[in-house]
Amino acid sequence: MNALDVGVYGLGVMGEAFALNLESRGLAVAVYNRTAERTTQFLQGRAKGRRIQGFTDLKEFVRSLSKPRMIVLFVKAGRPVDEVVETLTGMLEKGDIIMDCGNSHYRDSDRRFAELRGRGIRFLGVGVSGGEEGALKGPSMMFGGDFSAYVEAENKIGRAAAVFENSRCVSYFGEGGGGHFVKIVHNGIEYAIMQAIAEAYDYLARGVGLSTGEVGSVFEDWGRGILRSFLLEAAARVLKYIDTETGKPLVELILDEAEQKGTGRWAVEAAMELGVSAPTIAAAVNERTLTTQRILRRPREGVGFNRDKNVEEAVEAARSALLVTTLLSYIQGISLLQAGARIYGFRVSEALRVWRAGCIIRSRIVEELYRELSWSPGDPASVTLDKSIPQIEELMPHWLQFITDASRMRIPTPASMSALSYYLSLRSERLPANLIQGIRDYFGGHMFKRVDREGYFHSDWGRSSE
Ligand code: 6PG
Repeated sequence: MNALDVGVYGLGVMGEAFALNLESRGLAVAVYNRTAERTTQFLQGRAKGRRIQGFTDLKEFVRSLSKPRMIVLFVKAGRPVDEVVETLTGMLEKGDIIMDCGNSHYRDSDRRFAELRGRGIRFLGVGVSGGEEGALKGPSMMFGGDFSAYVEAENKIGRAAAVFENSRCVSYFGEGGGGHFVKIVHNGIEYAIMQAIAEAYDYLARGVGLSTGEVGSVFEDWGRGILRSFLLEAAARVLKYIDTETGKPLVELILDEAEQKGTGRWAVEAAMELGVSAPTIAAAVNERTLTTQRILRRPREGVGFNRDKNVEEAVEAARSALLVTTLLSYIQGISLLQAGARIYGFRVSEALRVWRAGCIIRSRIVEELYRELSWSPGDPASVTLDKSIPQIEELMPHWLQFITDASRMRIPTPASMSALSYYLSLRSERLPANLIQGIRDYFGGHMFKRVDREGYFHSDWGRSSE
């Protein structure tokens, strides 16, 4: 029997799709799943007639692979990854490669990389984005870990990735958890944009009174311009889909409690730890959490849309709010990438490059940001902000209208509002942090810097003369 090119461990939705993708690129694939039943189902179903071999014995699965072995894990993040890595390591030889393609925390990937390096196994933590369709047809792949393993993996596995203008959406983001760090930032941005889209829907449907399908059509229309994106297209399709059983838009029948698996929260935690302000990402995570805090929800009547107002104007207000909130979410994400780049040593523009196709946040805005960042020297977040300011200023009246109209109608817009205060803070000559510093010094002697002299100072704030 000829040795197989690559092993896929874990036949969940993503693992199956990725195994099929690898095979379609000319690779002979070995597959293994913890429960053998699933492997059998896969082999008799979607994998039938393809160069995919299933194994129920893990040792045989490992033995079937050509050396150095390359095993791709699609296992639930956290302990399951550690358990699988531990078991596999005992069966592998020096130089073999383990690629964790789940949504692992970058710190876990740092740790696994270091541990496995000590044992001669080459570890790669890989952020894979694009959902099931991406995994099947071409995801965006953010690698971190052992560089020599990356070079080999890029050559083999990289063939399965999405391609944008002849370049594969695959890159290396440094040792350890660099790839998973970039994926977490991707997901933070994903959360923020989804929240901003949801706010536009809420405002237009519940506030302005458009039907669900009409909002879907508005989104389709926006998607023909600068707002073209996978997420907006997905939103339009979800809004327009009619449930065959009830004849109603299915989205109207979905319970309004948003779930999350933790990657958005990790982005916020990383931002906090690394000293980066990312309020819109945080607002999106908070709002998902709030939707599930049923016990605190006290529904009241909304205030209707002022019918004297023009619906077209309202649509433009919502579009502007979505556009500026999206831009400011990217600026926050790019700032966070910069903090990660200082740890892992990658180029921020590389993240934007691999996000142009295959991933969930692929969009025209990402394409434009990459174009800008790929040649502009200087601080990437500043470059993006400077580029965005004229557009944001132009849209400001509509954005403010969206926020004030929505608030008047008692419709929450946390993403838009947080983006607005972020922007206003960035554009303020002077912020009231001077008073915060003064109060800190007053009660705790924490000292402050002055605008007119160098160094740190303390005042007794008049106490000595009392
Ligand atoms: C991707 C997505 C994906 C993520 C889902 C669900 O890039 O393909 O980010 O990895 O798992 O979006 O995330 P939540 O369950 O946290 O919404």
